[in-house]
Amino acid sequence: MQRSLSGIQPSGTLHLGNYFGAMKQFIENQNSGKYENFYFIADYHALTSLTNPEVLRESTKNIILDYLAIGLDPEKSTLFLQSDVPEHIELSWFLSNVTPVGLMERGHSYKDKIAKGLFPNTGLLTYPILMASDILIYDTDIVPVGKDQKQHLEMTRDLAMKFNQQYNVEFFKLPEPLILDNLAIVPGTDGQKMSKSYGNTINMFASKKVLKKQVMSIVTDSTPLEEPKNPDNNVSQLYKLFVTEEKYQEMREKFKNGGYGYGHAKKELLEAILEYFKDARERREELAKNPEYIEEVLRKGALKAREIARKKITEAKKIVGLMGNVYNK
Ligand code: ADP
Ligand code: TRP
Repeated sequence: MQRSLSGIQPSGTLHLGNYFGAMKQFIENQNSGKYENFYFIADYHALTSLTNPEVLRESTKNIILDYLAIGLDPEKSTLFLQSDVPEHIELSWFLSNVTPVGLMERGHSYKDKIAKGLFPNTGLLTYPILMASDILIYDTDIVPVGKDQKQHLEMTRDLAMKFNQQYNVEFFKLPEPLILDNLAIVPGTDGQKMSKSYGNTINMFASKKVLKKQVMSIVTDSTPLEEPKNPDNNVSQLYKLFVTEEKYQEMREKFKNGGYGYGHAKKELLEAILEYFKDARERREELAKNPEYIEEVLRKGALKAREIARKKITEAKKIVGLMGNVYNK
């Protein structure tokens, strides 16, 4: 059976971009019955930009609740924390030694992050190597991610090939990204890509009050209420994600006809979001009351993941000529 694997950074609260760009596909893959599923929280990766331990702990707790609430099922998927499988880091060292510095320097994500003022630490630069090892250590076939991760997947394949060539082995499997072509980047409240680092997110698990505030803050133009408006605006583009094509076209018509304000549309959008995530929001509240259950899920997931990862590392060591192997004696 093919393996589907993906990770998400615990560097903020889950937003609509993460959901439609990535998590929804995790759930679809999980429920399709076609894959053996691995989904993890990329907490080592978060260290490249998150320096407050309390915030990291809170985000990690939140993201696992989010995962479970939207439908990841520990019976069907192996769910774990990256930091519970330190072999990911170990493999990244093997890959580092076949990675040209220039390849990392050309990383879009790295360049974007430093342009935004993030401290250009080495972790940020070599982030794609760790991501490659997350993927390659499990012989992953399919990696569901948002469009912005495409280059990281290309780098992963590149590093896998470089290692295989260097040692003349067929050791790493080349993974395929699974990117929904018809899925545009989800726009944030300001019309740019929704991202926690741009402060333009809509967080489906926020309190109703916060959610309302976020929806109301969506940037629109100042066309007067009675006049016709551009039907493809920031509000309708988000609304589209939650409703049928018919309802979406209805909203577009109302905008075109005039006499329909952005405030009305935002109210409809808010209702659509609350309706769409109704069950998940309720489930999340229940799960939050049961931290022992969450711990057990993560423990089981990590044990399973680690067993696979350990084997891969043992083989990798042999291939490159490292003789240390006490874990397996
Ligand atoms: P952020 O940009 O908020 O830091 P991440 O980089 O942690 O989000 O992204 C986690 C996952 O969600 C990735 O697979 C990414 O492609 C996807 N994703 C994030 N934002 C969007 C967006 N606005 N539209 C589509 N997918 C997104
Ligand atoms: N870089 C990914 C992101 O920002 C998160 C991630 C880390 C990941 N390791 C991964 C995604 C492995 C898929 C597979 O979204």
